[in-house]
Amino acid sequence: MERENKDDRVILVTGGAGYIGSHTCVELANSGYKLVVLDNLSNSSANVLPRLKNITQQTITFVQGDIRHSETLEALFRQYNINAVIHFAGLKTLNESVLQPMQYYDNNVSGTLTLCKVMAEFGCKTLIFSSSATVYDETSQQPIREDFPLAANNPYGRSKLIIEQILTDLHSADPSWSIVLLRYFNPVGAHKSGLIGEISNAISSNLMPCLLQVASGKRDKLLIYGNDYTTRDGTGVRDYIHVTDLAKAHVKALQKSLDSTDMLTLNIGTGRGYSVLEMISTFEQVSGHKIPFQVVARRAKDLARCIADPSLAIKTLNWKAELDINRMCADSWHWQTHNPDGYV
Ligand code: NAD
Ligand code: WQD
Repeated sequence: MERENKDDRVILVTGGAGYIGSHTCVELANSGYKLVVLDNLSNSSANVLPRLKNITQQTITFVQGDIRHSETLEALFRQYNINAVIHFAGLKTLNESVLQPMQYYDNNVSGTLTLCKVMAEFGCKTLIFSSSATVYDETSQQPIREDFPLAANNPYGRSKLIIEQILTDLHSADPSWSIVLLRYFNPVGAHKSGLIGEISNAISSNLMPCLLQVASGKRDKLLIYGNDYTTRDGTGVRDYIHVTDLAKAHVKALQKSLDSTDMLTLNIGTGRGYSVLEMISTFEQVSGHKIPFQVVARRAKDLARCIADPSLAIKTLNWKAELDINRMCADSWHWQTHNPDGYV
C-alpha cells in the first residue's frame, strides 16, 4: 500500500483552543497536517480560531464539545479519518484542584478514559499526552531525568500521574498503541505575532501571568513566595520554556509516534533554570516597566528548584528549545500589550 502523505494526515487536537494547544495548532498546520480541534471552551475562546487562520492561512476545523462525551467523540471519528490525537484538554490550576478534586478527576482522568475508549473503537492508537513536571517527587535531584521517582501532592498532579499510569498499562496490554507522554516544565511566552497567547484571570497563580498583570496595572505588586530557598538569590528557580518551542516538540513527537508503536516519556524543558528575581529583572528590561514586589512567605509545597534534563527529548526527537528567556518575556509582554483583556 502506498504510504500516506503527511498532508493526508488528520490530527485531533483536544483542548486545541487553549494556550499550548493553539500554539501547537500553528506549528502542526505549518507542517502540513490537517487539524480537527475539539474544545469545550471552558478556559478558552472561539476567537482564537480566526487568529489561527490569520497566522497559518489555513482553516482549522473546530468543534465545540467535551472529551467526556463519547457521542461527540464518536461523531468526530466517524466524520474524519483521524490518524492521531494530541490531548491537551483538561483543567490545570493546582489550587483549584485542591478545592474541586472531583471536577479535576472527572475532566482529566474520566475525559482521558473516554477519549482512549473511543480511539480504540475506531482503531486510532496514536496519542500524545500533556503531562507535567509536577509528576516528579519533590525530593528529586536536579536536573530531573525521566526515570526519577514520581509522586504527586495535589489532585491536579495526581490526575496527571494517574493518566500516565493508565496509558502505560494500556500500552503494555496492547503494544500496537503509540503513546508519548510529554512532561512540560514551565511554559511561558506567546506566538511572535502577538495574536495568540495565554489567557490570565483572577485565579492565575503562575509567575508569568502574575508578572503581566502587575506590569499592565491589574495588580499592584508581585508577591514573591519566599527568598530563603537554597538557590543563588533565595527565590524559586524554574525551567521556563517558550510555548513555541514546546509546540514544536509536539510536531516532532507526532512525527515519531506516527512512525512507531513505542511508549515514550520525555521531559520538555530547556535544561536551564531562572529564579523569580532573574525573571523580574529580565521582564523589566524587555518591557521597560518596573515590577514592584514584596517578599512574602513560601507557598505551601513549593519547590526550591525544578529543572529538566531534556537530553532524552533532544536525542529522541531531534528537537531542542531555541528561544531564550528574553524572547519568552518579550513575547509574553507583546501578547499582553496587544490583548490586554485576552481574546475579548
Ligand atoms: P488551557 O486551559 O489553556 O487549555 C486547555 C484547553 O482544554 C482549554 O481550551 C479548555 O477549554 C479545554 N478543555 C478543558 N476541559 C475540557 C474538556 N473536558 N473537553 C474539551 N475541552 C476541554 O491549558 P494549557 O496551559 O494550554 O494546558 C494544556 C495541557 O497541558 C493541560 O492538560 C495542562 O494540564 C498541561 N500542562 C500545562 C502546563 C502549563 O503550565 N500551562 C504545564 C504542564 C502541563
Ligand atoms: C514559579 C516560581 C513560585 C507566582 C506550576 C504548577 C505545575 C505546572 C506549572 C501545570 C515559583 C514563584 C509564582 C507568584 C512567585 N503547571 N512565584 N510569585 O510552581 O513551578 O508550577 O505551574 O502542570 O503543575 O505547579 O510555577 O509559575 O506557579 O511558579 O514568587 O505570584 O515563581 O514560588 O518559585 P510552578 P509557577
